[in-house]
Formats: sequence, structure tokens, C-alpha cells
Amino acid sequence: MSNVHLINHPLVQHKLTLMRRKDASTNTFRTLLNELSSLMAYEVTRDMPLQNVQIHTPLETMTGKTIDGKKLVFVSILRAGNGILEGMLNVVPGARVGHVGLYRDPATLQAVEYYFKMPSEMAERDIVVVDPMLATGNSAIAAIDRLKKLHPKSIKFVCLLTCPEGIAALQTAHPDVPIYTAAIDRQLNDHGYILPGLGDAGDRIFGTK
Ligand code: URA
Repeated sequence: MSNVHLINHPLVQHKLTLMRRKDASTNTFRTLLNELSSLMAYEVTRDMPLQNVQIHTPLETMTGKTIDGKKLVFVSILRAGNGILEGMLNVVPGARVGHVGLYRDPATLQAVEYYFKMPSEMAERDIVVVDPMLATGNSAIAAIDRLKKLHPKSIKFVCLLTCPEGIAALQTAHPDVPIYTAAIDRQLNDHGYILPGLGDAGDRIFGTK
């Protein structure tokens, strides 16, 4: 689990617990997810390179530091990944955004791509793939397989929740991709849900159940 970053800041843990409650409304769930995603963005961007820039304060000229937000791409795995985007973009408003849509073929159980839209010049970019739940790992693995064909500078994966099975699957397929998560839950059930988890993240974000 060397490449797993558990974000155990008290604010993150507090908000996650409120989100897990089955009586949290759609509005509450979405608001908390936004807040939590912003907090996670601080962690995932901690090692972003800085460049020196000359600026003029009202009193002097000085060398400040800036990050190049445009080189960063948040890639949302549809549809639940979109719930993380707003909070991340609040922290890095200059970032670009890509989307990957995948569905599971009921016959083969393989992830099949139905949508893929990325910014240009991906070989110059650092990618942060977002999806609230790393469960079986199938979608994350398929999305990262596809993204690697664009030869980006780096790829990180951010989720809210995962489980030992999801971590093992993603690390086996992509050991070079660090995983950032707010919790590692007990297990995956037979239907691919994380236990104790928070239910279906997409349904809870969009109020579709
Ligand atoms: N996807 C979800 O939305 N919830 C889970 O528990 C697992 C996968």
C-alpha cells in the first residue's frame, strides 16, 4: 500500500461521516462532496511544481511563485466523478477537464468506453483522475489504460472511498499511479458495493434513487 495516500485530516473525516449517513439529503450529500473535494485537492496538488515570477508589490519588486494550473487536467469518470469536479476546480480554477464514460458489458463484464473527450496536448499535462468510489477497480483501470496511450507526464487517482480489493486491483494494473483516498473501508460485497461505504455515489449525488 506504499502508493496509497490516506487523507485523514479531521475535516475530511468529519464530512465523510456526515455523507455516509443514509438520511443525508441529496443537497447535503452534494454540498459535503464539494467541500471534501476541495480539501482533497490540497493534498493531491501538494507536490505541484512552482515557477518563479517577478511581481511588483506596492512597495518593491520581488520573486513570487506560481503554479501552472493549465497544465493540470482533472479527468472525471462519468457520471459520479463529476461530483468531485466542482470542489477541485474551486481550488485550481485554471485546470482543464476531461471526461471518460464507461459502462460494464453485461455479457463480458468488461468496461466498454462510450465517451472520451480530453484537452489537447495531453503529453504535456499532469492528470488527476477522479471517481468517488474505487470498488472493483475496473473503471479506474480501463480509464487509466486509455489515458496512458496519450503519454501524459503523470497520473494520480483520487477517490473518496476504497476497499482492499479496489486498491489491489488498481495497484496490480497500474503500480505507478498513486491513489488518494479519504477512507479504506472493510470490503467489497458480491454486487461490487463497498462496505460499510455510502451506497451508490452517483445516485446520491444526482438524487436518482
Ligand atoms: N460504486 C458506488 O457508487 N458505490 C459503491 O459502493 C461501489 C461502487
